[in-house]
Order: sequence, then structure tokens, then C-alpha cells
Amino acid sequence: MDLQKITDQVIVLVKEVGIYLKGEQHKITSEIIEKKGRNDFVTYVDKTAEQKLVDKLKEILPDAGFIAEEGTEIKKSEIYNWIIDPLDGTTNFIHGLKPYSISIALQKKEEIIIGVVYEVGLDECFTATKNGGAFLNGEKIFVSKTKELSESLIATGFPYYDYSRLPNFMKSLQYFIENTHGVRRFGTAATDLVYVACGRFEAYYEYGLQSWDVAAGTLIVQEAGGKVCDFSGGNNYIFGKEIIVGNSNVFDSFFAKIDGFYNI
Ligand code: IPD
Ligand code: CA
Ligand code: CA
Repeated sequence: MDLQKITDQVIVLVKEVGIYLKGEQHKITSEIIEKKGRNDFVTYVDKTAEQKLVDKLKEILPDAGFIAEEGTEIKKSEIYNWIIDPLDGTTNFIHGLKPYSISIALQKKEEIIIGVVYEVGLDECFTATKNGGAFLNGEKIFVSKTKELSESLIATGFPYYDYSRLPNFMKSLQYFIENTHGVRRFGTAATDLVYVACGRFEAYYEYGLQSWDVAAGTLIVQEAGGKVCDFSGGNNYIFGKEIIVGNSNVFDSFFAKIDGFYNI
């Protein structure tokens, strides 16, 4: 399988669908917003974008299955599966904000082998193939070299439906506010991940996530030299709903802090 050729086809696709997303954002009104759960929104734009992605990805790899957020195609295959979020940052999108992204990963058995995150607002396409490095609009990217948490900019997502660990989160947030360059909540996990990959953030953590939020971004971070784990230090960060990411220098101390706040 030619991973680079497939990645190039996916890049063309996400740019096409990105133009669609951009063109629809100003048409969003409160009447067309549907609620999937508490603070969990969806519009015809998410669904149409997903349909466009699935249709084309089926042509690119006819035998692959899909794990797609809006459930357009629920077929799972034994070897290859696309893991898709057609619009990561729906809350930003419906409030007229950026950033918002398209996130597409190709999984071979248990391993992610292609990751593409296209942040539509700034027209930035982040890509990676397994063992092939990570790129932003075709230029190689690397995580930052910052060594100290005290000199790091941290990204996170605020809990918005699962408040079971909110007290732990608030303690960790206070610590990072007081002991780093600051904390950002951009509203798109896929973008948070690729911003660690290109060195804009040193580290990122969040719980309550889904596989389509993180599958592509985690490969991009790893291929850029970063490290990823779940809240227990293990590898269940794609389907385990929680993730810790950092450049290789701050990762251990960042994990130790989060471990101290969550695993007590
Ligand atoms: C959400 C975004 C957000 C994160 C949420 C996700 P959606 O995805 O990634 O940053 O905090 O957990 O659900 O709903 O906009 O695709
Ligand atoms: Ca998402
Ligand atoms: Ca989404």
C-alpha cells in the first residue's frame, strides 16, 4: 500500500470539504442546530461533510470500513478502517468561531498508519504516515524543545458533559495556571494535538474524548517526536476517552502532575 499516495488523495479531499464547511458557517442559525446530548451539537453541515468524506474515501480504498462520528457508514472491516470526525469544533463552528478541523485517520488492525488534520480556519493541513514523519502544508514539523513545564503553554478541553472528574480537573487546571506560561482551550481536540506536533503548545490533556477526536492527531504528534499516553500511562488513548500528550522533554513531568491530580 502506497501510504503517501493515499495521504495525498486525502489532502485533496479535506481541502474540498473544507471549502464546503467554510461556505456554510455563516448560514448557521439556532433553528438548524440539533442536540445529540448535553452540550453535544450537530448540524446538517457535520452530516453532509461526513457523507462527502465517506463517499470519496470509499473510492480511495474500497475495502476499508468506517468509524465515523455521525454514523454515516457503520461498517467495520477486519484490516483497514477510516476513523473520521468531519467537523471537530462544532461548538466553535456554530458560534461563528475558529478553529475547526476535519480529522481523518486510517487504521490498519490496531495501528494508525495515516493521520490528516485540516484546520480550515487557517488553511493548515497537518499530515503523517507511520514512520514517515509529520508535516504542515508539506513542511516537516517537530514538537518544541522546551524542557521545563514552567516555560510551557498547555492546551486542554474543559469537561462539558461528564463532570465526574471535574474536581480533579479544577485542581490540575489551577496548578497549570500557576506554574506554566498559561492554559488554552481552543475547542477542537484534533487541533490541540497538531499544535503540540508543530511546537505551538508543549503539552495537552483532556478526558471525555472519542476515537475520531484523537486518532489522526496522535499519529501526527508521535511522528513529530512527541509522546502520548492515557491517564494511567498506558496505550489506551484512542478508544479510552482520555489523553495526555507532550513534547518528549516535558512529557514525563506533565504526566506525573496529571497522575497526581487524577489517580488519587
Ligand atoms: C469536541 C472537540 C472539543 C472537545 C470535545 C469534542 P466535536 O468535538 O474536540 O475540543 O473538548 O470533547 O467532543 O463535538 O466538536 O466534534
Ligand atoms: Ca470531535
Ligand atoms: Ca465532530
